[in-house]
Amino acid sequence: MIDWKTLGFDAYRTRTVVLSRFKDGAWSAPEKTETFSFTLDPFSQVFHYAISCFEGLKAFRQKDGRVALFRPDQNAKRLQRTADFLGMPAPDEDLFIRMCEECVRENMEFLPPYGYGCSLYVRPLLMGVHPQMQLVPHPEVVFSVMCAPVGSYYGDYLKSSAAVIPGNYDRAAPKGSGSYKIGANYAATFKPYKIAHEQGYVELLYLNSGSRRFVDEFGSSNFFGIKGNTYVTPLSDSVLPSITNLTLQEVAKDLGMKVEKRPIPLEELSTLDEAGGCGTAVVITPLSHIDQKPVLEEPAVERSFRFCPDGEVGPVSTKLYKRITGIQAGDLEDTHGWCRFIEI
Ligand SMILES: Cc1ncc(COP(=O)(O)O)c(C=O)c1O
Repeated sequence: MIDWKTLGFDAYRTRTVVLSRFKDGAWSAPEKTETFSFTLDPFSQVFHYAISCFEGLKAFRQKDGRVALFRPDQNAKRLQRTADFLGMPAPDEDLFIRMCEECVRENMEFLPPYGYGCSLYVRPLLMGVHPQMQLVPHPEVVFSVMCAPVGSYYGDYLKSSAAVIPGNYDRAAPKGSGSYKIGANYAATFKPYKIAHEQGYVELLYLNSGSRRFVDEFGSSNFFGIKGNTYVTPLSDSVLPSITNLTLQEVAKDLGMKVEKRPIPLEELSTLDEAGGCGTAVVITPLSHIDQKPVLEEPAVERSFRFCPDGEVGPVSTKLYKRITGIQAGDLEDTHGWCRFIEI
């Protein structure tokens, strides 16, 4: 039995994975597998050259009993953009959404009930499976969709945390892969995350890797700041175009706020009233403070930007969080049509 009150964010093994193969110019009819495993050629591109990308979206059991996927069309489009960067074929929007819906339907017993803040996290994955040594794309891929019931990413809903700017680590090269959801971008964050967590920071805030003068994004999510009545978020070609951030920008406008998407100089952090991370997994991670360290492994802190007392959350972050989670749960009217209902 899953305890919905204490559910965290993990690779919980559910039942069915839905998959389709692209070979000889066409996608196969989606298949279902209940073995929860893949068999691939050891020379598959995915293993050696990280030819892999993914998406993440959530399905919610709403107040009236309906089941909604949140903005799956946006995830389909982003996967296509990422796949194009890797030279891979990608499922069209219709196939992408159909397979996500099928994955939810097939794993209904794992869909968290309404009222606990939990959801079914849907993870579409696209892998290059052609066995080859040459560094050229090959149109043979597997697209699979799996899911896991999830609660809070950091073990607590809406509680402020600390982040660190690791001066000696970059996330993505200028004009590189930063704005694409490829597995390799995340590989580079594993070690710095481990060090940061050991020091009590939950998040890593990366600066732009060229000049390191501007805020880019967190290892797991986009950055946003609140300055008076303005929602501000970085304009950068090396951050992932977050669907949550896009949604929060709309929500902020609906709440009568101004939205600015522009380069954010590091020094500007000292002028923000609130700051946080946003993404499907975390929803909003409000930050108490962000420390800047020249070398993550060493204790020296160059400067610290403070937003709110430890554990507390600013009023605007709270309002944004309540609005987006309220729409997802069906408690608030979905005036933008972001929820796509699944026929069960
Ligand atoms: C690096 C990174 N930035 C931003 C996001 C947020 O994107 P989204 O809101 O589409 O989940 C994610 C994923 O959650 C991410 O991994």
